[in-house]
Amino acid sequence: MGSPDAIIDLMDDIIRIAGIAGSLRKRSYNRAALLAAKNLAPAGAVIEVVEIGTLPLFNDDLASAPPPAVTEFRRAIGGADAILFSTPEYNYSISGVLKNAIDWGSRPPAESVWARKPAAIMGASGGLLGTARAQYHLRQMFVFLDMYPLNRPEVMIASAGKKFDAQGSLTDDDTRRRIGELVQALVTWTKQLRRAFAP
Ligand code: FNR
Repeated sequence: MGSPDAIIDLMDDIIRIAGIAGSLRKRSYNRAALLAAKNLAPAGAVIEVVEIGTLPLFNDDLASAPPPAVTEFRRAIGGADAILFSTPEYNYSISGVLKNAIDWGSRPPAESVWARKPAAIMGASGGLLGTARAQYHLRQMFVFLDMYPLNRPEVMIASAGKKFDAQGSLTDDDTRRRIGELVQALVTWTKQLRRAFAP
C-alpha cells in the first residue's frame, strides 16, 4: 500500500474517458460497441458511459440556468480527460440525440465542456460505409468545438447486424481488435496532449 500522496499521484495518472453512444435504442449496436470498448480499455484507463437520453431538447433560453440532467451531463463531460463517441448514422449525419447532447455541452461558449478535449470516434451502422459520413460530420463539429480529434485508426463498423449477437455482444474479432487499437491510441494521444500542455 503506497502513501496517500503516492495514491493521489497514481489516480492523477488514470485516464478517464467519457463514452457517449449516439443511439437510445436498447439494442443499439453503437451502445454495444461502446460497452465492448469499455472492456478493452488498457490498464490505467477507464471508460465511463455518459447517458444522453434524459437530456431535454436544447433551448438556449435555459442555457444560463440549465435543468439538472444537463448540469449532470456537463459535469461528467467536464471531468473527463477524453471523449469516445460511438455514433450511428442517421440520414447521412449523426443522430439528433447526439447533436442535442453536443449542443448542451457547448453553451455558453466560454463554458463549453468540449473545448480542448481529446476525442475519438467510432460508429456502427447496418450499411456498408459503417457511419463514415456521420463520422466526418462529427469531425467537422470538433473544429468549432475546439476539440482535439484522434485521426487514426478510423473504426467504421459496417453491416453491424453481422458483428454482434442477439445479446449485444461483439462477436467479430477484427472489430474487437480495431476498437482496442482505437482506445489505446486515444489513451496515448491524451497523454501526449497532457505532456504538451503541462505547465
Ligand atoms: C438509419 N440508418 C442508416 N444507416 C446508414 O448506414 N446510413 C444512414 O444514413 C442511415 N439513416 C438512418 C436514419 C434513421 C432515422 C434510422 C433510424 C436509421 C440505419 C442505422 O444504421 C441502423 O438503424 C443502426 O442500427 C443505428 O444504430 P444503433 O441504433 O444500432 O446504434
